[in-house]
Amino acid sequence: MSKPSILVARAIFPEVLQSLAQVFEVESNQADEVWSAAELNRRMQGKVGALTTGSERIDAALLQANPQLRIVANMAVGFNNFDVPAMTAAGVVASNTPDVLTETTADFGFALLMATARRVTESEHFLRAGLWTKWSYDMFAGAEVHGSTIGIIGMGRIGQGIARRGAHGFGMKVIYHNRSRLSAELEAECKATYVSKEELLKTADHVVLVVPYSAESHHTIGAAELAQMKPSATLVNIARGGIVDDGALAQALAAKQIAAAGIDVFEGEPSVHPDLLKVPNVVLTPHIASATIQTRRAMAQLAADNLIGFFTQGQAVTPLNTVTGRAA
Ligand code: 8YV
Repeated sequence: MSKPSILVARAIFPEVLQSLAQVFEVESNQADEVWSAAELNRRMQGKVGALTTGSERIDAALLQANPQLRIVANMAVGFNNFDVPAMTAAGVVASNTPDVLTETTADFGFALLMATARRVTESEHFLRAGLWTKWSYDMFAGAEVHGSTIGIIGMGRIGQGIARRGAHGFGMKVIYHNRSRLSAELEAECKATYVSKEELLKTADHVVLVVPYSAESHHTIGAAELAQMKPSATLVNIARGGIVDDGALAQALAAKQIAAAGIDVFEGEPSVHPDLLKVPNVVLTPHIASATIQTRRAMAQLAADNLIGFFTQGQAVTPLNTVTGRAA
């Protein structure tokens, strides 16, 4: 019996590719070329499954042009590159990679918060530029982290991981805003207090964004929200590009309306708003919050296991939708 054909749209770990090759006829992209939508569509022809990353868009046009497609497994917990309602309507299973990246991503949220508050990259640039000629008492004086107030917007698994680190590791006061309140048990475990978005913005010393991207969360932080924050506050975005209005942020940073920001995700990435590149008080990283070898391997394997589970057991491991079968 011939094996089902799948597409692996970006380069992944060779051992994960091998596990897929035991079950599937695999077309892969180990050269890691960035395909246009037309090229992705062309490569998808004849494939019943696909492994994608956040860079590949799965929309109604692609689904219509590929009536044989039955499942797309995203190697990411975020899935704003998927039109899930269109996939469900077309009878195509969508899956993501929750849990395996939670702690690693929360670690990075803290890394970015610390680097931002304590001006790590800004001061390193100063040193590398040969500008360090003497020590002075207020040189690169930053914002206090321990004992300060952290405001977390988006209190899912990663938000909770950041809260635990803040409360238990750094003695921070944790406030959060979310679509729904956590259970009393989770609030106690995270030592977190639910507040309105406005109160969070006005009182937090460090605002951390971990909210999934959607039309509703677009520009959760824009000029009006930045104006509500304390002039001494910092902002960290490890959520998605588009959650912050990057142009408005660059202006607020240049005007010292807030002290500093740490940004891992950008509107229209890998392009970065040119004004952000001009301001010194921002730490910029290229969407690496989940980037450890162990975690990226676990994400790739979970995405592969979703495909393998679907075709060998009739069930994806971590599906995002329930479908009854591919519509004709
Ligand atoms: C991924 C992410 O590295 O999981 C997510 O949602 O943003 C990152 O962990 C990226 O999306 C690649 O697919």
